[in-house]
Amino acid sequence: MEKKVTKIGVMTSGGDSPGMNAAVRAVVRTGLYHGMEVFGIMRGYAGLIENDIFPMHSKSVANIIQRGGTILKTARCKEFLEHEGRKKAYENLKKHGINGLVVIGGDGSFKGAQKFSNEFDIPCIGLPGTIDKDIAGTDFTIGFDTAVNTAVEAIDKIRDTADAHDRLFIIEVMGRDAGYIALHSGIATGAEHILIPEKKTDIDHLISSLQEKEKRQKLVNLVVVAEGDGFGGAEEVAKLVKEKLNADTRVCILGHIQRGGAPSCLDRLIASRMGYSAVECLMEGRHNVMVGIVNNKMSYTPLDKAVKAKQKIGDDWMKIVKILAS
Ligand code: ADP
Ligand code: F6P
Repeated sequence: MEKKVTKIGVMTSGGDSPGMNAAVRAVVRTGLYHGMEVFGIMRGYAGLIENDIFPMHSKSVANIIQRGGTILKTARCKEFLEHEGRKKAYENLKKHGINGLVVIGGDGSFKGAQKFSNEFDIPCIGLPGTIDKDIAGTDFTIGFDTAVNTAVEAIDKIRDTADAHDRLFIIEVMGRDAGYIALHSGIATGAEHILIPEKKTDIDHLISSLQEKEKRQKLVNLVVVAEGDGFGGAEEVAKLVKEKLNADTRVCILGHIQRGGAPSCLDRLIASRMGYSAVECLMEGRHNVMVGIVNNKMSYTPLDKAVKAKQKIGDDWMKIVKILAS
């Protein structure tokens, strides 16, 4: 028979994302509502291994729903990649009597959670917390909406100065392995071209299309590049563009501002729904799944499926970019 989950731990792991605090708040308050004891684990798997674990109360999560970052801090932890590290983590959980875990993070964190629960029979629930939106089984990840709006606000500002000087701007947004921030922010700001890791960059086509626009005196040109684009990011693209075109060109790398800031309404909302649902999953014995939202309904994807499959970016997206920028 399934053991009843009575004491749960919650952690944030991997790259932070706006809305993680709202998710922690939802897990803590829902757990307490159901009579559970709830423990915060500091710095993800690092805190689990170092026994940096503390009891949380309703007040522990007061006044955080609007804050970016994560009150539980986050970390990347090499030790957890090894069985010995995970064993230490398990022993610490046992000391506190914790028999259920909620991990808010990206696919790396889910890989860790999956291994951990297979080895030590601790039910784990994953909540997708990443600005990159590179996780299968959910329409949303906590932090993406805020990050993409931050990028849009910044690119709009760049457009003003680009227009004033008739300049070409190559703007780099985050996305080591995924192009969603580039794709969404690029379309929303009217970029001429969007370069993403999921599609092979045809640099000759990019140059010839910019040359053609130069001839037509289309002077404001924005090219949005995901950092993980196969060609090597904005600096590399700009080097080549400067060699081949007369255009006055500037590079702007948006960087980590995309990870910070107050979460958007959407991110607070999905984080709250997902955090609430994570506790219900633990109570109902629905273990080792990632809680997501698909078609506005909660969805539950086995952790191994959530980490194996990436979302696909169809060619129709690129067609939209091409037609709207012509
Ligand atoms: P994210 O969760 O944002 O994708 P990472 O890929 O850095 O971030 O993963 C966060 C942490 O999860 C790692 O530092 C490590 O402790 C753990 N982790 C990642 N992959 C594995 C794995 N294959 N096995 C065990 N733990 C893992
Ligand atoms: O959160 C995901 C991500 O933003 C990637 O797009 C980026 O490459 C990475 O994190 C950078 O993270 P860090 O600077 O913490 O290594």
